[in-house]
Amino acid sequence: MHPHDTVVILDYGAINAQIVAKAVRQLNIYCEVLPSSAGIDRIRKLNPRALILQRGKAFGERTLGREAAADLAALGVPVLDLLETECPPGNLGEFLVGRCGLRQDWTTERFIEETVADLRERIGDRKVLLAMSGGVDSSVCAVLLHRAVGRQLTCVFVDHGCMRKDEPRQVVEIFRDQFGINLVAVDAEARFLARLAGVTDPEAKRKIIGEEFIRVFEEEARKLGEMDYFVQGTIYSDVIESGWEGGKAVKSHHNVGGLPERIGFKGIIEPVRYLFKDEVRKVGDALGIPAAVNHRQPFPGPGLGVRCLGELTKEKLDILREADAHFLKAMAEAGYDRQASQYFAVLTNVRSVGVANDARTYGYVIALRAVKTTDFMTAAAVPLPIDFLLRVGGEIATHVKGVNRVVYDITGKPPSTIEWE
Ligand code: XMP
Repeated sequence: MHPHDTVVILDYGAINAQIVAKAVRQLNIYCEVLPSSAGIDRIRKLNPRALILQRGKAFGERTLGREAAADLAALGVPVLDLLETECPPGNLGEFLVGRCGLRQDWTTERFIEETVADLRERIGDRKVLLAMSGGVDSSVCAVLLHRAVGRQLTCVFVDHGCMRKDEPRQVVEIFRDQFGINLVAVDAEARFLARLAGVTDPEAKRKIIGEEFIRVFEEEARKLGEMDYFVQGTIYSDVIESGWEGGKAVKSHHNVGGLPERIGFKGIIEPVRYLFKDEVRKVGDALGIPAAVNHRQPFPGPGLGVRCLGELTKEKLDILREADAHFLKAMAEAGYDRQASQYFAVLTNVRSVGVANDARTYGYVIALRAVKTTDFMTAAAVPLPIDFLLRVGGEIATHVKGVNRVVYDITGKPPSTIEWE
């Protein structure tokens, strides 16, 4: 049972059940979203103080059913029935606090305290392994676990050679040097690039990076000796979007999928399983994780591997890293980073003729991309000011060796995807 007053949101196929859940949590009240098919025992286990029925395509007298309705009534808690159009609902606070008398004590600080205490109790003197990607979720998990069990935690960070400029160094500096986390950093660039030589098909590239990642990680884990627990940075959207099946969420696109089964741990720990992304970030801020990590944009598991078109070579990846770093810096300096959900450079595999110092050049074409999205299923290109684009594009074409032309990607999703491969 959760230590805080809990609201259960029953989702009848609404498109916005997550928005209601986020609105409840904004009030510092804990809630969980369950599918409308959840049995009454599952609801009762959470000991809810209030129920919200989130109407959607599966809602109706018939689907709710007499028995279910009677069951819900037997819980004896107040029920709010929300239409899909009432979102986010204005009267939520009035209902939950005014009418149901729920306490608003589910805060970031309490979450951290309680999670650290729980982890400490569950882990005891056992050992924990965490795959650190440098992303927000695994970073927050690492710091929470480090607070709970200190040196019993080992983090492994694998540099697959497709990281952004300075990223591997930054991960080590922040987590090993500043936080004092026991972090093993593996430079596997050469190994990945050897396996990727000659491979041009995007899905084949993804597959090789994923498989090689597991192999490298497995080898490192074996060197460390027996570990009891494996940490996964699953978040609540992964849980909800995976359809709750057996409560087993798989982090979509995740590099470490399949790893726990292969290495064989006693248990999986998911410290942020019940948090939404913005809540994970709040925890990260409170834990003192620098904004450069905690507020960074999403970065795909295969990294620059899907932004460097065609065969992956060190030469091309280095060119892309330079161009990308330049663009990221310029976006942050101009403050446009806040207008974009994801922004990056792409090394198109096209080379074109240019001119420098009166001589003909033959360089790569770099594409810049910046998109705004809420769910990453659809996205719009950010209309960056042309003056800014002219300046940044010019700088990249002039200063990044190997590049002589820069274009801006103006397409939305659909019909394009966010990544180029
Ligand atoms: P697309 O390109 O499909 O991207 O519009 C949607 C979101 O997913 C990310 N993405 C990936 N993430 N492994 C990942 O971990 C991948 O292979 C992958 N492909 C795309 C992309 O960055 C965007 O946020």
